[in-house]
Amino acid sequence: MKPREIKPGIHEVGAIDWDRRLFDSLIPLPDGTSYNSYLVRGSEKTALIETVDPTMEHELFHHLADLDCRHLDYVVANHAEQDHSGMLPRVLEKYPQARVLCTPRCKGMLIDFLRLPDERITTVDDRQTVSLGDRTLEFIHAAWVHWPETMLTHLKEEKLLFSCDLFGSHLATTGLYVTDEGQVYEAAKRYYAEIMMPFRGNIEKHLERLKEYQIDIIAPSHGPMYRRPAFIIDAYRGWVLDQPRNEVVLPYVSMHGSTRIMVDRLVGALANEGVTVKQFNLSVTDIGKLAMALVDAGTLVVGVPTVLVGPHPIAAYAAILANALRPKLQFVSIIGSYGWGSKAVEQLGAMIPNLKAEVLPPVYCKGLPGAEDLKAVDALAAAIAQKHRERGFA
Ligand code: FEO
Repeated sequence: MKPREIKPGIHEVGAIDWDRRLFDSLIPLPDGTSYNSYLVRGSEKTALIETVDPTMEHELFHHLADLDCRHLDYVVANHAEQDHSGMLPRVLEKYPQARVLCTPRCKGMLIDFLRLPDERITTVDDRQTVSLGDRTLEFIHAAWVHWPETMLTHLKEEKLLFSCDLFGSHLATTGLYVTDEGQVYEAAKRYYAEIMMPFRGNIEKHLERLKEYQIDIIAPSHGPMYRRPAFIIDAYRGWVLDQPRNEVVLPYVSMHGSTRIMVDRLVGALANEGVTVKQFNLSVTDIGKLAMALVDAGTLVVGVPTVLVGPHPIAAYAAILANALRPKLQFVSIIGSYGWGSKAVEQLGAMIPNLKAEVLPPVYCKGLPGAEDLKAVDALAAAIAQKHRERGFA
């Protein structure tokens, strides 16, 4: 595949990773991903915006050779994470005149992670500009999107925003631009849920700041580019700012069927109350889907049996994940069953301190749930529905 031209002198030179199925040894990538890198040639200087994951070295160098790129003045490192920065040592070796431009915090991280030589790195201030001749790069510091050192780069004359991980999607496609907004909405929401959601307070501020910039095209570091920036900016505004929906996320695991009976009862009772339920069997679920469901939900209920006195480890994993993702849900509860003794409720409750949510009384029964236990499940459903009505969740 040839480098893809965005405008004369501006090309996408990164790599499409069709086969990758896991990121950070954690996050499922059902549709692969891409590591986007952009070559920007001005009348006097040339800049490479980001590199690629080190596994894709051949792609980047092949594209640069295709464009007869024998000299680089700058390599802009918007972000120190290795899927974008990992090729910097090789790029600096191949282009001995090139200097890395990054935030002061990023400089320290690049030295820590990649042992880059200090003298090859120049730090840039927030709003600082660097001229390429007839083209100008402006750097926008954007801490905690999703690391503390991140910045975005605005190519002023072209109204093009290199947005780094912000607005990205794990989606392998030959299309340079978004063509199917429905498909990209799903992929970008999954990306937001897994990567950006814990920092939505910071993202809200950065979205506000981006209003000052003229943006015709957004070029993220993963997934296709946006020729209609409002599509992804509006989606982010909704995920960040909208109040939770009238939805319950119900991840569960069941060993001998008792917890499953309670789950079924709760799902039915909530549906009868007009509450939407997203149910996930944790033994088989894609945790990316669970993360996406947490973006909008008003309530989380975990269905968990007891294993060796504590919560089933698969449910504990889901609770730790939800705690790390810090969704905006406002209520939590637990349902489940134990055999002879349990500390599952206390232990699971202690795993979610980041969820600033009201705890609704758990329903935890011994063995097979009886009529009273099922009535308690119905009461939990009624309480959730009532809470959602009081908060105006729609
Ligand atoms: Fe795509 Fe945070 O790296």
